[in-house]
Amino acid sequence: MMGSWVQTLLFMSVLVPALVECRIRQYHFDVVLKNETKLCATKTIVTVNSKFPGPTLYAREDDNVLVRVTNHVQYNVTIHWHGVRQLRTCWSDGPAYITQCPIQPGQNFLYNFTLTGQRGTLLWHAHISWLRSTMYGAIVILPKKGVPYPFPKPDKEKVIILGEWWKADTEAVVNQATQTGLPPNISDAHTINGHTGPVPSCSSDDAYTLHVETGKIYLLRVVNAAVNDELFFKIAYHNLIVVEVDAAYTKPFKTDTLFLGPGQTTTALLKADQGTGKYLIAISPFMDTIVAVDNVTGTGYISYNRNLAFTPTTMVSIPAVNATPVTSTFSNSLRSLNSKDYPANVPLTVDYSLLFTIGVGINPCATCFNGSRAVADINNVSFVMPTTALLQAHYYGINGVFTDDFPGKPLMPFDYTKAPLSNLQTTNGTKVYRLAYNSTVQLVIQGNSIIAPDSHPTHLHGCNFFVVGRGIGNFDPEKDPLEFNLVDPVERNTVSVPTAGWTAIRFRVDNPGVWFFHCHLEVHTTWGLKMAFLVEDGKGPNESIEPPPSDLPMC
Ligand code: C2O
Repeated sequence: MMGSWVQTLLFMSVLVPALVECRIRQYHFDVVLKNETKLCATKTIVTVNSKFPGPTLYAREDDNVLVRVTNHVQYNVTIHWHGVRQLRTCWSDGPAYITQCPIQPGQNFLYNFTLTGQRGTLLWHAHISWLRSTMYGAIVILPKKGVPYPFPKPDKEKVIILGEWWKADTEAVVNQATQTGLPPNISDAHTINGHTGPVPSCSSDDAYTLHVETGKIYLLRVVNAAVNDELFFKIAYHNLIVVEVDAAYTKPFKTDTLFLGPGQTTTALLKADQGTGKYLIAISPFMDTIVAVDNVTGTGYISYNRNLAFTPTTMVSIPAVNATPVTSTFSNSLRSLNSKDYPANVPLTVDYSLLFTIGVGINPCATCFNGSRAVADINNVSFVMPTTALLQAHYYGINGVFTDDFPGKPLMPFDYTKAPLSNLQTTNGTKVYRLAYNSTVQLVIQGNSIIAPDSHPTHLHGCNFFVVGRGIGNFDPEKDPLEFNLVDPVERNTVSVPTAGWTAIRFRVDNPGVWFFHCHLEVHTTWGLKMAFLVEDGKGPNESIEPPPSDLPMC
């Protein structure tokens, strides 16, 4: 079983009450070590089924997915199905100490969920410590049988998953940072389907090549599985037509550059209309503030008609590392498809109106390198990981694990996008924000500049949201809502909050459980830029969380 990847497709007929056909997709994920050579050096990495990147999980809308995860390594592990709604199955969501205790060495756990109301591309990744640097893969949700895409049918489909590579062991990188209180070392390269392409420090590394045939149309499922870097994606002399992000269809739009934060996906049509030759694919980081970033471009190729290796390559101009306008043009172009079949159900009324300011701070630390440590917070609360999973504590009514007094607004309002001279310190806590079943939320996420302003791709588990507004500077509660798009805003699970700016989202919580909300830059999550929403059970028969699976790991 070790290292093997078994996919079986079972058909099961349920005769009561009517003839219903439900499809089960079964996977085995064996967590094993593997030696991998990149940047002219070999290291041992944690993988699923000895694959890097990990296996793509294929299913159709409405399928029941069963993944047996068996841990054969010395670390505790969990896997998160990033963007899967997990209606009533919060137990299978995966963030360690939020919805489950980790799967300990030698143990296994069956993730069991149904894909409801979603089609497109998502990703899965480890959700404990920094193991997701090498434990990640794509999720492809095809439409129900017989239902076409709402765009021209492509000739072929390709998964293109982007990552970040450290020469060092990433568990050592994060442990050292936690001990010293200093920022963790930045990565050494970026990868396309696991390949860096040649880089200055090592010219021999191979590159990913996408072979195309002239005139054919390709559907590229681009996933950013990087740990800390927001990325631009570009192909020389080719435009892309974006049709879906985060497993929600969009109005098609043409662009020469994609912009994805970690955790985001973009599915786009590529027409092989250049006739012949080789064209560079480039992925490069975005960073428009004074924070160090891995500036090594990852490269791959599009190669026409199986051309010989010596065809000259057409190069591409890479966006500047601080090309803020490219990111805003891309974000502002995204619109929900909002058709009859795929309506955008934007909440038009709001039960909870929240303002979260997010950023980085400094706390004293006697044992740290400078006598202080970098921390990050939401509304001045830096989240402290519990040792019992929040969902278990909630379900069984265990006291003392968390409190439900997470502040829905900053307790001490200040000029968020100006750097204050004092008050760099945050408070610590394991706090959740409680929401009634089926209520609607408006959340304004305001970046602050306490240490340095930064761009934050923020992710909500369990719910998609609509991105109704976005701006630079401080959110104006009087003027800015007048400009909100309540008609066809993009629907997603992860959204970039611009540097020294804000993003407003709206969502309905039809999903009981405990849902993690955090910056998807792992460095910021590690520092505490995270909290959880506790969505209460409803009163109806299908409105409460299912009982916990019998094999749920213990802490
Ligand atoms: Cu992909 Cu909690 O994250």
